[in-house]
Amino acid sequence: MTRVLSCIQPTGDVHLGNYLGALRNWVIGQHECDAFHGIVDLHSLTITTEPKVVGDNTLRLAAMLFAVGLDPDAATVFVQSQVPQHAQLGWIMECTVSFGELSRMTQFKDKSARREAEFISAGLFTYPALQAADILLYDTDEVPVGEDQRQHIEITRDIAERFNFRFGDTFVMPKAVIPRAGARVMDLQDPTSKMSKSATADSGLVYLLDDPAAVLKKFKRAVTDSDNEVRFDRAEKPGISNLLEILAAVTGGTPETLATQYTQYGPLKNDAGEAVVEMLTPIQHRYHELIADRAELARLLGKGAEKARAVAEATYRRATEAIGLIQI
Ligand code: AMP
Ligand code: TRP
Repeated sequence: MTRVLSCIQPTGDVHLGNYLGALRNWVIGQHECDAFHGIVDLHSLTITTEPKVVGDNTLRLAAMLFAVGLDPDAATVFVQSQVPQHAQLGWIMECTVSFGELSRMTQFKDKSARREAEFISAGLFTYPALQAADILLYDTDEVPVGEDQRQHIEITRDIAERFNFRFGDTFVMPKAVIPRAGARVMDLQDPTSKMSKSATADSGLVYLLDDPAAVLKKFKRAVTDSDNEVRFDRAEKPGISNLLEILAAVTGGTPETLATQYTQYGPLKNDAGEAVVEMLTPIQHRYHELIADRAELARLLGKGAEKARAVAEATYRRATEAIGLIQI
C-alpha cells in the first residue's frame, strides 16, 4: 500500500479552510493508503520562545485530529518529539545538505526577511533537513503538499539521492503529490484571500471551535457582492461564490445547482452558517470530551508513537549502519 505522510505544525487553532481543504481528506485517505500524520512540534520550536505553548497546542491539535475522525487504528497519528529518530536523523540530514542549498530555500528567505527585527534561529535555516528526516524515516512514497512546500520535497529528494550515493541504497525516494482537491475556503471578510490564520482580523475566520452563535454571526456578516443576484462566479462574485462553495462542501451539492435555489443573499448566509454549525457540533462534542480526558488522549497518541517508532527505528538503524557508525 502506498505510504503517505502529511505533517502539520501545532501553531494556532484549526479553521474551516484547514478542515474542508485538508483534514477532511485525511479522514477519507486513511482507509485508502498507509497514512502517517505527524504533529511536527519540533518544527514549531524554530519560532518558540515561551514555555508550555507548544505542548498545549500539540494536545489541542491532536484532540482535533481525532475529533474530526482520524482513527488511530487506521492512520498513524504521532507527535514528532515522541519519536527521537526525527532529531537524530535530522542531524545526519544536516550533514548531507549544503549551506548553499539551504540558502536557496525561498521559505527561509521569506521568513527570515519577515523576522528581520526578531530572533532568527539557526533552526529556521536548517528546518528543511529536519523535514527531510521526517519524510525519509517513514520510507514515504508520497507527500501531499501545496506549492509552498514543493521546494522542501525537492531538497529532500536531493538529500536522499546524495546519501544513497555516498553510503549505499538506504532511503526510499519520496515524491510530492498534489493533495486531493478539497474546497478552497476564502476569508468571509475578504473573499479574494484564502481563509488563513495569518489574517489580520478574526471576523472572517471560522474556527472549528467557534460556538454556534459566533459561527452564525460570522456568516451573517460575511462580505457579499454589490448586486443582488445569486450566481456562482468566483471572479465577479467572490463573496457569494465562497458561501456557495462552503455550503456545497458541507452538504455535498454543487455550488452551481445550489445557486439556483436562492434569490436573496440573506437565506444563503443563514443556510451556510447553519450547515457549518451542524457539521461542527459533533466534532466539537468529541473534541471537548477528549481534551478533558488527558489519559485517553495520551493513550491514542501512545498508539501512534509506538507505530511510528517501530518504522523510524528500523530506518534510522539502516542509515547508521550504511554510514558505518558503530552498533552496540
Ligand atoms: P496551514 O495552516 O496554512 O499550514 O494549512 C494546513 C492545511 O490546510 C494545508 O494543507 C492547506 O492546504 C489547508 N488550508 C489552509 N487554508 C485553507 C483554505 N483557506 N482553504 C482550503 N485549504 C486550506
Ligand atoms: N514544513 C511543513 C509546513 O510548514 C510542515 C512539515 C514538516 C512537513 N515536516 C513535514 C510537511 C514533512 C510534509 C512532510 O507546512
